[in-house]
Amino acid sequence: METSEISPVWFKSDGRQHMADILSKSAAYDKIFVLCDTNTEKFCLPYLKELFKETSTATVLAIAAGEKNKTTDQAQTIWQKLIEHGATRQSLLINLGGGMITDIGAFIATLFKRGMPYIHIPTTLLAMTDAAIGGKNAVNVLSYKNQAGTFSFPVCTYVDTAFLKTLSENELKNGFAEMLKHGIIYDKNYFMQLAENGHFTSEDAIRSSVEIKSEIVKKDKYDRAERKILNFGHTIGHALESMMAANNNEISHGVAVAAGMICESHLAVSKKMLAEPEAKKIEETIRKYFSFEFTFTCDSIRKYLWADKKNSAGQLKFSLPEKIGKCSYDISVEESSVINAINKFTIPEISNAG
Ligand SMILES: NC(=O)c1ccc[n+]([C@@H]2O[C@H](COP(=O)([O-])OP(=O)(O)OC[C@H]3O[C@@H](n4cnc5c(N)ncnc54)[C@H](O)[C@@H]3O)[C@@H](O)[C@H]2O)c1
Ligand SMILES: [Zn+2]
Repeated sequence: METSEISPVWFKSDGRQHMADILSKSAAYDKIFVLCDTNTEKFCLPYLKELFKETSTATVLAIAAGEKNKTTDQAQTIWQKLIEHGATRQSLLINLGGGMITDIGAFIATLFKRGMPYIHIPTTLLAMTDAAIGGKNAVNVLSYKNQAGTFSFPVCTYVDTAFLKTLSENELKNGFAEMLKHGIIYDKNYFMQLAENGHFTSEDAIRSSVEIKSEIVKKDKYDRAERKILNFGHTIGHALESMMAANNNEISHGVAVAAGMICESHLAVSKKMLAEPEAKKIEETIRKYFSFEFTFTCDSIRKYLWADKKNSAGQLKFSLPEKIGKCSYDISVEESSVINAINKFTIPEISNAG
């Protein structure tokens, strides 16, 4: 049955003891496993073992880093290892990594013997503010993203900003784009704070994003309605990402979503949903932190836009802001309006360059 409950998120400053208590319930778990990728095994596992002594004797299972390894083949390998090491439904899986590991780890745990308990310890800003929150998991199938997955919730999620010290600037920006999105769709004060001070790696900023995403998920756990507002910036963002990848010129998810949010804000203005000064504030803030060193045309992106699974019956579907802090979903838009919005994004780039 659908309930509004989702699992707790503990932060280091006030939740470290809760996390230690969960791990030390020695009777609760017969074995502890830690799932890492090759980077988090090197950069994050030693700190985890220092932080929580229960993990120092855990069995470590590692997957090669990178999105291309978020596959059913890798899940199968980890299931085999869990069986070889005698894992049961009373064992605990700790997913220590970015969104790749929290996604595949939750998928593995949810299906192993019809469900073993798991904890997320996100180590990228994107996983702390987005991927490890909200109970969705998935793996990729062939070249298609997130094709097989479930809804399920961890025992808890533990957020510790110390993990961010070894993360690259580009990876940090991937999380920051989602945090700006949270402000735009749900909380104007939070957006204005981020816009002004740019302190996006502080525990307070991350906590605000976690609260916003959790509140939205609680209203619509299974992504049938209101949760769709989290797609703001992603319709054009995903199309851009696919188009650039097809041209062997990959851009990061954060940059694609940042560009997508600018275009989709212009779209909201053309639909008379958003006031122009608000769209300008969104654009100015995003351009302060993100630079866009690529060009694209409406023609080159068209087929990738229509591939989006949200579109039907000749209509493109968007989640668009009505003002900074409030967003609507399932808005049907004509292709010509999308083209105008994309032109508004690309034209300032052309004039800047000239
Ligand atoms: N389930 C959801 O709701 C949801 C939401 C958003 C994204 N996602 C998924 O999340 C994934 C993207 O997540 P991501 O951006 O975290 O990617 P990622 O997990 O691939 O991590 C990015 C890179 O950073 C490395 N890394 C991780 N933590 C590190 C650390 N502390 N220090 C140094 N290096 C570190 C990783 O090894 C990897 O090379 C995608 O698969 C996406 O589909 C899921
Ligand atoms: Zn995203």
